[in-house]
Amino acid sequence: MTGGGQMWGGRFAAALDPEFARFQHSLPHDHVLAFADLATNRAWSRALAAVGLLTATELGTLHAAIDELEARWRRDGVPAGDPAEDVHSLVERELVARCGDLGKRLHTGRSRNDQVATDLRLHLRQCVQDCLDGLHRLCAALVDQAERHAAAPMPGYTHLQRAQPITIGHHALAHAEALGRDRDRLLAALRRSAQCPLGSGALAGTALPIDREALAAELGFDGGPTRNSLDATSARDHLCELAFACAMAGTHVSRLAEDYVFFAAHETRFLSFGDAVATGSSLMPQKRNPDAMELVRGRAGRLQGALAALLATLKGLPLAYNRDLQTDKETLLPAMRETADCLAIAALAVQHATFDVDRCAAEAARGYQNATDLADLLVAAGVPFRDAHGLVGAAVNRAVELGVELHELPPAEVRRLLPQLQVDLQQALAVPAVLARRDAVGGTSPARVRQEVARWRRQLAAWTATATNGGDEDA
Ligand code: ARG
Repeated sequence: MTGGGQMWGGRFAAALDPEFARFQHSLPHDHVLAFADLATNRAWSRALAAVGLLTATELGTLHAAIDELEARWRRDGVPAGDPAEDVHSLVERELVARCGDLGKRLHTGRSRNDQVATDLRLHLRQCVQDCLDGLHRLCAALVDQAERHAAAPMPGYTHLQRAQPITIGHHALAHAEALGRDRDRLLAALRRSAQCPLGSGALAGTALPIDREALAAELGFDGGPTRNSLDATSARDHLCELAFACAMAGTHVSRLAEDYVFFAAHETRFLSFGDAVATGSSLMPQKRNPDAMELVRGRAGRLQGALAALLATLKGLPLAYNRDLQTDKETLLPAMRETADCLAIAALAVQHATFDVDRCAAEAARGYQNATDLADLLVAAGVPFRDAHGLVGAAVNRAVELGVELHELPPAEVRRLLPQLQVDLQQALAVPAVLARRDAVGGTSPARVRQEVARWRRQLAAWTATATNGGDEDA
């Protein structure tokens, strides 16, 4: 090899400027593709043997070398600090070191452009699986919380103003619902990357009569081979979709984190975090800070940044491959790792969050959160809802003046302000009655929440059963 020993050095006489060599070096980011690259090499060498470019013996020798390299790297780790330009050059160099000229024949008919596109799709299966594991953990923690507190009341908010009572369980399952959609999004993005780019060459396709269907099947791509070599080597929309799914999941976890931070504030004191996930202050001895949830909330911003970075990189790139695309891994892979981490830490924080159910129940009965129910009682007595709304508004004003809740209004005031009413307000406006009324599908009644907990338990079991077929080693 010439040109400073690079795999592409044929027409180059001198070495790269060391500053540029460092700048273009991608092994620190793409060494995580090493096992996917070994899988790709196994499959490609088999394809070369099938078209008569390698004998069975040569194929056996190459596969033994790939196996040995894999065992070594699984034991010692992939040498991320190696001077090789990228993971593909590293693998090629190691195979040439083991098999000599035979190793040099492996790159026949293929390019790093179709190779990296294939490796990345293989590796992303594992990245998605890690996110799915995090989603499973977090949803399971929320479902546990919901089961414990299916009937436990707490204040419900809109505009961060007390609105109507809800159950703690209903609140927990609300966050689980959003995370369930994130799971669908991740799997949908993975489905759209289930076609195999290998055999697309640098841009125009391979000149060898390769059986690309067999190649795709061998590497576990359900969608068969990609259908256009220009697209296959330059498309990165599946990465943007995954980045969006991560940014969305991060945003959902961040909203959960924000709720829990608020619930842990002295102003609410609805829950407290255990020592395992709270931290103190170096100065103020009394502090117990909800740092786990704050860090999760903070990281969501970076996930949004990753999506913006990928889209900005793609916009305006001509077909087909451009080296700009090398930065995709540097952006997406840490974002996927971070998403999985945020989900796992949020799960831990939920597990270590203890609700003060007595305080939550007491606060659910304060702040006129049963005003809508009072209006509904008037409607049941024949008052049109708009009029009932006005009457209850006046009753709330009077109760504020008297410093009491609606159900504590003196009987004389009730007769004066709401003459149509014939019911015992204490009972009809009590929090359990208010909760029990919201019993239609999707409502906060304890009975509904219990049903939803049961549905979630079945769903979590089904999630456990469906994996991504992930893991480079399965490929
Ligand atoms: N390391 C590159 C990447 O990740 C693959 C190499 C393609 N290089 C090239 N000059 N075509 O995108």
